[in-house]
Amino acid sequence: MSVFNTTKYLLASAMLMSFVHINCLANDEQQGAKTDNWMQHGRSHKEQRFSPLEQINSSNVSGLGVEWSVHIPSDGLAATPIVIDGVIYMTSSFARVWAINAETGEQMWMFDPQAGVHNSFANSYSARINKGVAVSKGKVYVGSPDCRLIAINADTGKQIWEKLTCDPSAEYAITGAPRVANGKVFIGNGVSDYGARGYVSAYAGDTGKLLWRFYTVPGNPDNPHENEILKMAAGTWADGWAKNGGGSAWDAIVYDAELNQLYIGTDSALPWDVSVRSPGEGDNLFTNSIIALDADTGKYIWHYQTVPADAWDLNAANHMILADLDVSGKKEKVLMQAPKNGFFYLLERRTGKLLSAEKYVKVTWASHIDMKTGRPIENQSVRYYKNKSNSAEVTPTIFGGHGWESMSYSPDTGLVYIPAHEFTSTYTSDPNAPVGGVVFNYYGEDLNEQKTGLSEATKKRKIGKLIAWDPIKASPVWKVESELPLNGGVLSTAGNLVFQGSADGHFMAYEADSGQLLWKLKTGSATQASPVSYMLGDKQYVLIPVGASGISRFMVPLYGTADDAKGPSRLIAFTLNGKQSLPEVSTSTMSVPEPPKQTGSKEMIAEGEQLYEVAACGVCHGSTAVGQRSISSSIPDLRYMRKDQHTNFKDTVIKGYRRQMGMLPFDQIINNEQVEAIHAFLIDRQSRLYEAEQQGK
Ligand code: HEC
Repeated sequence: MSVFNTTKYLLASAMLMSFVHINCLANDEQQGAKTDNWMQHGRSHKEQRFSPLEQINSSNVSGLGVEWSVHIPSDGLAATPIVIDGVIYMTSSFARVWAINAETGEQMWMFDPQAGVHNSFANSYSARINKGVAVSKGKVYVGSPDCRLIAINADTGKQIWEKLTCDPSAEYAITGAPRVANGKVFIGNGVSDYGARGYVSAYAGDTGKLLWRFYTVPGNPDNPHENEILKMAAGTWADGWAKNGGGSAWDAIVYDAELNQLYIGTDSALPWDVSVRSPGEGDNLFTNSIIALDADTGKYIWHYQTVPADAWDLNAANHMILADLDVSGKKEKVLMQAPKNGFFYLLERRTGKLLSAEKYVKVTWASHIDMKTGRPIENQSVRYYKNKSNSAEVTPTIFGGHGWESMSYSPDTGLVYIPAHEFTSTYTSDPNAPVGGVVFNYYGEDLNEQKTGLSEATKKRKIGKLIAWDPIKASPVWKVESELPLNGGVLSTAGNLVFQGSADGHFMAYEADSGQLLWKLKTGSATQASPVSYMLGDKQYVLIPVGASGISRFMVPLYGTADDAKGPSRLIAFTLNGKQSLPEVSTSTMSVPEPPKQTGSKEMIAEGEQLYEVAACGVCHGSTAVGQRSISSSIPDLRYMRKDQHTNFKDTVIKGYRRQMGMLPFDQIINNEQVEAIHAFLIDRQSRLYEAEQQGK
């Protein structure tokens, strides 16, 4: 080959390579945008969760019926299913991956990563929640609770490679879905709530090679900062670094195909009382922020912090949507987010410039956002640690005005549909509180009557909200309110429809422009996951994973409507001529075993009740010891302990008798006497339930 020819050959192959590169990108984008598939987490890279399909529409949706349903053993379902050419890929708890025939619901394969749940509290807690997979070029990617990023053959369900992407023994875990773009897999991790330092990593999709990593908060200055921007961020922390970690990017990761940028949303840091975490109150960058990175290199481009010096866990890890909108007569590339803090943000994507920020729910921690500085103007007395009482009532709470349940943007109506809720809670600083160094009522003041369900007054307040939000006018167009909070993610379609599952075990279709309820079906299972839609042959399907996940699986039994919503985890497919009925929901009929004799005093029981909350047993076993009583629950309801379980109680709680199964030892947190008090409290709860059952017989 002559030199000339060699050059020509190299040039040609370079061109070919860049062509292939562009082509793959276009493919990813197109398949998201045009075909009948649901290729990516939010359908396309923009994560609008809008389906252009319109066979099912507002004039015929009343005829929607069940085409098939399949039971998936899991602690509820949180995943968004990916649907490609007739195959559904999704996850259940313990990061099990399922491939299911989209036409029939038949299982094709199941991959079990045999996730370890014993390394840390973060592992055990996170193992029950997984938001789904990413699929690209014949590979399925999943993040496991014990920190592995795993690539699986999409046809066979066999593992191809795996990489350890965080340290599972250091309170790291993964619940979020990976994202794929441009030959790369992006994965974040949690859990700041247990003290992990947040970061996002990019891996080569074919080999699993680590390409880059971006830390969200500054590390120990004894080691060099990973980059200049973290050096800058270090100046916003009292001790020059994030000693207890923070800033986990545990949910939203969005790839911008037009600007080749990656956006991540970050969590807060521990302890939530910032006067302890960072005395002197620096902003604590980059907690509670949206960060834009170069997708090729992981280099910082811009950030926007939604809550500087957060003290309430009002994080910004939530879903983000990209769109092109006419804002004040100007075409803007925007990013939209409704983070926990209750403000709906519109940012310009190239620069991170704030375009608007308005309240989408009741907000008491700040009056407004200063448009010049982009900073919130806080209300008096919301910083509880500065108050004489050391406490303050705040709205929203750690559940946010909106949690991880996905929003949807319809380019047809121009509206963003937000699955929101309105919680209020009192925050009190307490260095002994294991979760965040703050005592608060997990379920807000609204659910104080946990033992008997919602009060009539709370029911009237209707704290669950589906809000259709005009992002340009920055105001709501319509709202549907419900008694229960923590309803499911949203899908909008070109059929002028909005679909949403609810905490009370129903699946609904609303008219997208008016909010009118057009169709409703009882699934019997509380729902937090998001529906998707796809076309197979000449039939449009709407698919919804049901079964309460995350914290909601413990809240459902507290509502007093539990029997309607405690059904199993299921994947349900609907079509216009679907004629199946859902199998009867059989909620647990296990009877309460006879409890041992109570030997603890009244005071001891009361102390045990408090310790149960303080030691955060309720995070896994349910507040006030009301556990998840649905069929495939993997965490026991402690009011149903048998004799042998009572005998082993102390060894289980202190020594970690059942560590391998995710019940970690509490020897560092509580002492022998305290365990006995907790035990007395649980025996009390079991006795009451037992007596009630005996009387009912
Ligand atoms: C991070 C999650 C988590 C937390 C926090 C937690 N547990 Fe557990 N616990 C589990 C899991 C998972 C199991 C089931 C283990 C198994 O399958 O053997 C369990 C089992 C138990 C059992 C055995 C019950 C039986 O039916 O066998 C007892 C007793 C128990 N936990 C008490 C407690 C107490 C008391 C606390 C608070 C001090 C607590 N747990 C906090 C996850 C947790």
